[in-house]
Amino acid sequence: MADTLTITDNRTGRQYEVPINNDTIRASDLRQIRVAPEDFGMMSYDPAFLNTASCRSAITFIDGDKGILRYRGYPIEQLAEQSTFLETAYLLIHGGLPTQSQLTSWEGDLSQHAMLHENVKKFMEGFRYDAHPMGIFLSTVGALSTFYPLAKDVDDPASRRLQMIRLIAKVPSIAAYAYRHSVGKPYVYPNKELSYTGNFLNQLFKQTEPIYQPDPILERALDVLFILHADHEQNCSTSAMRNIGSANADPYVSLAGAAAALYGPLHGGANEAVLRMLTGIGTIDNVSTFVEGVKDGKERLMGFGHRVYKSYDPRAKVIKATADKVFAITGRNPLLDIALELERIALEDDYFISRKLYPNVDFYSGLIYQAMQFEPSMFTVLFAIGRTAGWIAQWEELTSDKGRKIARPRQVYIGEGQREYPPMVER
Ligand code: CMC
Repeated sequence: MADTLTITDNRTGRQYEVPINNDTIRASDLRQIRVAPEDFGMMSYDPAFLNTASCRSAITFIDGDKGILRYRGYPIEQLAEQSTFLETAYLLIHGGLPTQSQLTSWEGDLSQHAMLHENVKKFMEGFRYDAHPMGIFLSTVGALSTFYPLAKDVDDPASRRLQMIRLIAKVPSIAAYAYRHSVGKPYVYPNKELSYTGNFLNQLFKQTEPIYQPDPILERALDVLFILHADHEQNCSTSAMRNIGSANADPYVSLAGAAAALYGPLHGGANEAVLRMLTGIGTIDNVSTFVEGVKDGKERLMGFGHRVYKSYDPRAKVIKATADKVFAITGRNPLLDIALELERIALEDDYFISRKLYPNVDFYSGLIYQAMQFEPSMFTVLFAIGRTAGWIAQWEELTSDKGRKIARPRQVYIGEGQREYPPMVER
């Protein structure tokens, strides 16, 4: 059996044979298909990349029909159960799990770079008191580019490694500073005696106590949430990271662009939108009316549906289990009952069944964050901290590929043909 595809152009009767690799044809192989020799040649038209692979990647595998997610081959459930966020970040970036000494030195490097330049702090102080933390986060990450100009040498592996460490190390400090700024509290410097996630909680919530001790269960729950959000192959923000990175832009500005994409309510902004939706529904009695409104197209059931998953999002399953552990410490979030009722009604309803709409990662995560005392406006920032590992791993995969090219999609032009410029009096 030949690994080729035969295409017949019924306009000309000509046949073309194009190679198949990994169940994929190269869109540029279509260019040979033309009616007249001067034609540009055929393109594929795929708005929103519904069926176009934009890269070859060895990082994350998803089978959306079966609800499978693996980082570098390891199932997400095993990582959430047994790994830590920093170990998972190492795995994503380096391709394999670290030995104990590799992990110790990785953690040491990261804790050493957790501090922010004092001018970054001053820069953040310039935002209005009510600035959305995600706006502060993405602007500040972009501003780091001006502090580390050597990051522009994206072809130097040593420089790339340093910037990757700086980014993973500093995003929690930026996130915590953004939060403290919004509530008018003084900034808290990192404490290297604490874990990555424990220190983040310290930078967020430390009050007047000399040494902040995070609750180990909440610290672990947040670490698991970071693992679950760490990568998700070529989603909207990761594609933005790769697109910007393909222009040889440094990783700080590339990551700022990725974070901007994540901010959107259809992507990472959904966790905040879910909480606002549940609060708006208010009581269980209102759930069926709300679902009817969704079916009538008046609103979307936020936290439901996914471009890739056409069964239960495996991350949502882990989050649901994590929620129980968190609520045992914090008390049950009263919005949980509304969420469970929404899920129950939706999963029995033909509208959702026929469209294969299931809860995604964002459906329950906000309930946990809220129980842990996070403001809804911080939820997407928390997503961004975890996803930074994946953005960087994907950027490193792109940048270390010597054959990379600048991303530059084509378009189908549907505008006017050439016309003469009329003087103002004739318009
Ligand atoms: N509520 C109601 N209907 C929905 C929803 C929803 N959440 N999601 C999809 N549909 C319907 C949609 O109206 C369409 O129906 P029809 O065929 O009658 O026109 C059908 O399902 C297919 O939807 P689509 O918009 O073509 O699907 P998509 O793959 O373009 O969109 C999505 C994926 C995630 C943007 C969408 O499901 C959505 O808006 N969900 C709510 C927002 C959300 O939870 N986003 C977080 C995604 S997971 C976190 C991450 O970004 O990684």
